[in-house]
Amino acid sequence: MSGDSNSGPSLVQAIRQSPPIDTSEPYDPAWVAGRTILITGGASGFGEGFFRKWAAHGANIIIGDINDKRGEALVEEVRESTDNKNHHYIHCNVTDWQSQVDFFHKAIRLSAHGGIDAVVANAGVIEKGARFEEPKGLDADAPPKPNLLCYDINLTGVLYTAHLALFYLPRNPRSQNPSVSNTPAADIPGESFLSASNLLYLSNGYS
Ligand SMILES: NC(=O)c1ccc[n+]([C@@H]2O[C@H](COP(=O)([O-])OP(=O)(O)OC[C@H]3O[C@@H](n4cnc5c(N)ncnc54)[C@H](O)[C@@H]3O)[C@@H](O)[C@H]2O)c1
Repeated sequence: MSGDSNSGPSLVQAIRQSPPIDTSEPYDPAWVAGRTILITGGASGFGEGFFRKWAAHGANIIIGDINDKRGEALVEEVRESTDNKNHHYIHCNVTDWQSQVDFFHKAIRLSAHGGIDAVVANAGVIEKGARFEEPKGLDADAPPKPNLLCYDINLTGVLYTAHLALFYLPRNPRSQNPSVSNTPAADIPGESFLSASNLLYLSNGYS
């Protein structure tokens, strides 16, 4: 690991993430053409936006979501508008490990080239109902458990997705140069947990 003598190792090198993005540079989404991209929570919101944008540029998108009705309708619509049958909807509850395993296994079977090029761990929610920071009624005989759904989806679900992506991305038959970020930095134990956050994007570096 290098870095100048005053500042120590570069953080980018240390955590093996992509370098900073210069948002003033034009972005060319053409690179996604022909790629198989998995998006959790792809039936609406940000996920739907990624789906529409990348599908319009020739990517094959496979979304996993719990909203079957919306997900299936969206895939149908985008298949038509892009004249591409390689977009798919798969039911996936990101809080359920087996559901995510099934999502990846089915996606590989459906992928036009038998592999996965990129994964977006996008499924996320905001806390609804009783707020964690405002516990109430805990002096009762049966105090109510806090609702941790937000944590289960936004943290555990993202970690499940990242774990599966780290396994399957380098196994893409088209992979020539697996991502430098697919092994954890040896000198930062637990780095994966530190960097886990909503909207995590992993790609296998095939280009
Ligand atoms: N929209 C915004 O402006 C904004 C801004 C900042 C942060 N966020 C955060 O980003 C996240 C996503 O926002 P959004 O606007 O795209 O939300 P959204 O509700 O439109 O989309 C979230 C998607 O995730 C799916 N989902 C929910 N639980 C799931 C589960 N267990 N398994 C699989 N899929 C599941 C939903 O069905 C939905 O399709 C949220 O955590 C939100 O708080 C949103």
